[in-house]
Amino acid sequence: MTKDMPKTMGQQFGRRSWAEPWKIKMVEPIRMIPRERREQALIAAGFNTFLLKSEDVYIDLLTDSGTGAMSDRQWAGLMMGDEAYAGSRNFYNLENAVQTYYGYKHIVPTHQGRGAEHLLSQAAIRKGQFIPGNMYFTTTRLHQELAGGIFADVVIDEAYDTQNPHPFKGNVDLGKLEALIKDKGAENIAYVSLAGTVNMAGGQPVSMANVKAVRALCAKYGIRLFLDATRMAENAFFIQEREEGYAEKSVAQILKEFCGYTDGAWMSAKKDNLVNIGGWLAVNDPALFEELRNLVVVYEGLHTYGGLAGRDLEAMAIGIAECVQDDHIRSRIGQVRYLGELLADWGVPITRPVGGHAVFLDAAAFYPHLPQIQFPSQTLAAELYLDSGIRSMERGIASAGRDPKTGDHYYPRLELTRLTIPRRVYTQAHMDVVAEAVKAVYDARSSTRGLKMVFEPKYLRFFQARFERL
Ligand code: F0G
Repeated sequence: MTKDMPKTMGQQFGRRSWAEPWKIKMVEPIRMIPRERREQALIAAGFNTFLLKSEDVYIDLLTDSGTGAMSDRQWAGLMMGDEAYAGSRNFYNLENAVQTYYGYKHIVPTHQGRGAEHLLSQAAIRKGQFIPGNMYFTTTRLHQELAGGIFADVVIDEAYDTQNPHPFKGNVDLGKLEALIKDKGAENIAYVSLAGTVNMAGGQPVSMANVKAVRALCAKYGIRLFLDATRMAENAFFIQEREEGYAEKSVAQILKEFCGYTDGAWMSAKKDNLVNIGGWLAVNDPALFEELRNLVVVYEGLHTYGGLAGRDLEAMAIGIAECVQDDHIRSRIGQVRYLGELLADWGVPITRPVGGHAVFLDAAAFYPHLPQIQFPSQTLAAELYLDSGIRSMERGIASAGRDPKTGDHYYPRLELTRLTIPRRVYTQAHMDVVAEAVKAVYDARSSTRGLKMVFEPKYLRFFQARFERL
């Protein structure tokens, strides 16, 4: 190389970028509809992004749930579906994949995550028991409540501070957990409900040290520990990146070690496991397994298909092996982080550090002039759609719902709007477009008016509630 040869950016700065470990084989066209049609669509949807038609959306960051792109191998797996009612070979492939990568003994497939939450809640909660967890999740808490349980938040306080740089903001506060156990009595604790990369906190991870300590505390009081493994592979990446002693371990090794401290897990395979539909529940205790295997027949389907086709089970088994690959997770989280860092550089308030599956806009900081009851996060999601046809999701007071005892709104301490990145779907150029749109909405923030709720469904209201502009 000669001295005067032009240098690339990378050579200049010694930069080493991540890139996706795949190339694109098939594309699906998308387009942005004109502004006046977006305005009409938003009004027709009652200012709720869940009620928009997908065709009216340009870049869809509503959720990372079931929206990922399957690999050519997974598509090939679909053709290998054994659609027998009972004992499909695809079930055994799934069972083997969960045992290999997550390490649990007994597996029950379910149609998606909440199917698994329902079964576990019914089998493991007695009326009036408490279920401590590292922040609530909408469907998880609802199933616990429907089973007669009472959710108790034991996440560390740092999780509620969007600017706190704590590397593991999903951690359980051991003091809060032990105080609850002592206060209520161990027999009144159904189990500890631990989630990897805590969704409502901004996709914030749990450390290995924390799960070990929670395990020890549970063992001391004879309490079971169950894991929401929905985004646990992504959690394993953060451990590899941030926790001492794990830099040289693979995501797969870390995932299995983490699960080893728990008694079982439920899974929305629509996230980490890279399928468009599917879930599972896995436990080590044979007696509990018998009960779950019996319940699944009532609510989902036979214990070897759980509401899914054989082909879905196959795609899930293949997706499990793909999702623990280090290069996959690195680019997955790298993309989310790319978007987050662009926004942070421009002074847009987001939850820091950037989490695993999404960038969370701090709607309370966007709109300090809007009281929480005027739905700041819902407002922000509506404004972003209006500006650029980008669909995001409210994660604030609408999502939090109402206290079943008092009937009053839960007033969550976080009022966030989530830009959720589907896996293997969008490019870095899409992330640029999204960041620029968010910036435009941020610049127009002071003249933005809030919303009022005009229709409220009884359960999980955020999915179908309707709003009007104030
Ligand atoms: N647990 C977590 C942490 C989740 O994020 C979800 C779903 C579930 C359980 C329930 O799984 O949807 O397959 O029934 N989260 C989606 C989201 C809906 O957009 O965050 P499911």
